[in-house]
Amino acid sequence: MAKLAVLGHGVVGSGTVELFLKNKDKINKRGGLDLELGYVLDIRDFPGLPYSDKFTKDINDILNDDDVTVVAEVMGGVHPAYDFVLACLGRGKSVCTSNKELVAKKGAELLKAAKDHNCNFMFEASTGGAIPIIRPIHRCLAANDITACAGILNGTTNFILTKMITEKMSFEDALAMAQELGYAEKNPAADVEGDDACRKICILSSLIFGKHVYPDWVHCEGITKLTLEDVAYAESWGGAVKLIGSVKRTEDGKILPMVAPRFVCSGCQLSHIDDVFNGIMVYGDGFDEVMFYGRGAGKLPTASAVLGDVIDCAKHKTTILSQMWEDSTDNSFIADYKEDSVSMYIRVQGADKTEIENLFGDAEYITREGQPADELAFITPTLKEKDIDEKLASMSGSVLGKIRVLDM
Ligand code: HSE
Repeated sequence: MAKLAVLGHGVVGSGTVELFLKNKDKINKRGGLDLELGYVLDIRDFPGLPYSDKFTKDINDILNDDDVTVVAEVMGGVHPAYDFVLACLGRGKSVCTSNKELVAKKGAELLKAAKDHNCNFMFEASTGGAIPIIRPIHRCLAANDITACAGILNGTTNFILTKMITEKMSFEDALAMAQELGYAEKNPAADVEGDDACRKICILSSLIFGKHVYPDWVHCEGITKLTLEDVAYAESWGGAVKLIGSVKRTEDGKILPMVAPRFVCSGCQLSHIDDVFNGIMVYGDGFDEVMFYGRGAGKLPTASAVLGDVIDCAKHKTTILSQMWEDSTDNSFIADYKEDSVSMYIRVQGADKTEIENLFGDAEYITREGQPADELAFITPTLKEKDIDEKLASMSGSVLGKIRVLDM
């Protein structure tokens, strides 16, 4: 008999235990396994559960039990999760995590620790919730030169944007609902400021391009500055505003990871992804493009991905070598986003069309219901971002909105 230990009994932790116990017989039968729930680590007490006898407050109970071969880390945050994960890997126990902050900040080191101790560090649940994305990238698409990826990577902000657009719900009410449904981070600022999507694009970038991309190196904007006016202009333009995490290889061989709201045209499938769902497009030479879609957050969808890894680890006790990337010591391989060519939606008050045309040539104007007489909105031609900024700085009037158009 092998034992599974679950570190953390919050939303994802309780979901992981519940789904495992519900489907344990099927999981063991299908996988040819004999896996039992061994421990649940949490500092809180949970009396009255069918598995209350499994709780411990001491990580040493797990570390010292040789029957524990697989550990699910679902605590979130870097400390103490990092220390616990490193200790488990050090004892040759494979670890499966949903903790994107941990993978984005310590992934290269933990992958190496797993390899050094001939066990696995897996993180399918860290990106895209229930969506299989990590395995497809490093296994199914491994024969290709992957050049870019772009997606809706945060369920909470997509849920909020959908509620604001379709039900005219206030930002605050939509966020409260996302928290109630267990989608949001403990501190929802991490969702709405883009940090959560940033951690996920760091993970995808590291996996695709083979070098650790740290969150501090990524230009990141959240949705807090978005207005209902911007949303209305996006609709009238023929698309939607979405928070997009993206990475692409640039012409000089660097990579450009970024998180920001984008105008997404209706021809792009990402514009139609609503509520808590995530969608991720991946681009490469052999397959052209593929899209992954599913529930990006929530108790059981995330538990499903954690347990997929648990089963893989229980089946393959030694290192699955394909899932590796190098650590990086500096960010010289990250391109400057201001040098990138982009087209932008601009909303401005108090400027005139002659001036806009002198600066931008033939701008594409968009209108909205209730548009004030002194407000103009337009889409710029494709220019370097730094040049757009320079032109805007020289323009009279106030820029009220500025959102990049997604071009993938
Ligand atoms: N807060 C995250 C989200 C949870 O909303 O996407 C899943 O990673």
